[in-house]
Amino acid sequence: MSWLYNGIVRPVLFAQDSEKIHDRTLRALGCVSRSALLHRLVQSLCGAPELPVELFGLKFPNPVGLAAGMDKFGQAVPAWSALGFGFSELGAVTWQAQSGNPAPRLFRAIKDEAIVNSMGFNNPGAAALAGALTEWKRCGRWPGHPVGINLGKSKVTPLDKAAEDYACSFRLLRPLADFFVVNVSSPNTPHLRQLQDKAALDEILAALQQINIGPVPSPILVKVAPDLSFEALDDILELAMPRRLAGIVATNTTLTRPPTTDEALRRVYAQPGGLSGRPLRQRSTEVIRHLHRQSQGALPIIGVGGIFDAADAWEKITAGASLLQIYTSLIYKGPGVAREIVAGLQSRLAEQGFTRLSQAVGTTGN
Ligand SMILES: Cc1cc2nc3c(=O)[nH]c(=O)nc-3n(C[C@H](O)[C@H](O)[C@H](O)COP(=O)(O)O)c2cc1C
Repeated sequence: MSWLYNGIVRPVLFAQDSEKIHDRTLRALGCVSRSALLHRLVQSLCGAPELPVELFGLKFPNPVGLAAGMDKFGQAVPAWSALGFGFSELGAVTWQAQSGNPAPRLFRAIKDEAIVNSMGFNNPGAAALAGALTEWKRCGRWPGHPVGINLGKSKVTPLDKAAEDYACSFRLLRPLADFFVVNVSSPNTPHLRQLQDKAALDEILAALQQINIGPVPSPILVKVAPDLSFEALDDILELAMPRRLAGIVATNTTLTRPPTTDEALRRVYAQPGGLSGRPLRQRSTEVIRHLHRQSQGALPIIGVGGIFDAADAWEKITAGASLLQIYTSLIYKGPGVAREIVAGLQSRLAEQGFTRLSQAVGTTGN
């Protein structure tokens, strides 16, 4: 499978405009999602072995999830489980529909296996996403794994009205997903990252928890930037208890760029936006290790950033992540990547004499 993707499929895809090929791929996965036959076929080729994890009161068939940003419109919700993912995070969605930043806004840094994007939350708005998700449920094609939604702030909403904007999306979408991620860390919406400041984030989380009522409150997580200082991360941790945070997603893309003398890479790295993929791996692991240590392992972490194989996944888990997400490695390695990582994690657990993944979490974290 990987030889087919690397040798034939990827060169054809990479010869085309990044965003166009993303859109075409999502449309194709939408077809897979609507056809029981195609879904079974993809599952038989790409499905991952079982490596169950229980967290937030949810059952994850394996710990490798799809990161936010890939399926912003809920176009291919059923396909992600067939591609071996143990959970998926849709969005980012904003209360208002918006077109995002002007194109081109998605660039491949091929030699570094990285991406620079400045998409800016292009999405059809919370109401349209609610419609798409309702339709997947109605036609009986809802996936058998947990589905989360990444919530962003509408660009037109001023920062001091951010809490209300997030709350509107949450109120509408709450019945339609298993967990929610408050995204205050995208570098592509002006000033959004200021919402990581303790007081601003507190206001947003308070507004969400006010409507997060009923017998089973939804798990709410916060997604952080890798560029935050450890002190700023500690401030966010202080909100965990009072605002009943279910966990932290670490990390979003980075504004930093690795040093390079390669001309093609320099051109890509000169583009504005967030960098993802291999160059992000180390910093995102450092953030995970810090959060795990500071919270004494009490706050679950979803580790994301530069995970390409089981070794990268193991590094994040032993640093303190209970679940993982990938985005960029799916582009570079193709549809077998989730299965490969899950199978590799199974082998590592067996080598260490562990029976459950949770036994490995944070074992190198302190
Ligand atoms: C094109 C693109 C769009 C993204 N959009 C979002 C988004 O809407 N919300 C979000 O929280 N993260 C978004 N991300 C960040 C990813 O979810 C992830 O945190 C980041 O890419 C690091 O993981 P990776 O190295 O496996 O790609 C996006 C990433 C890319 C490459």
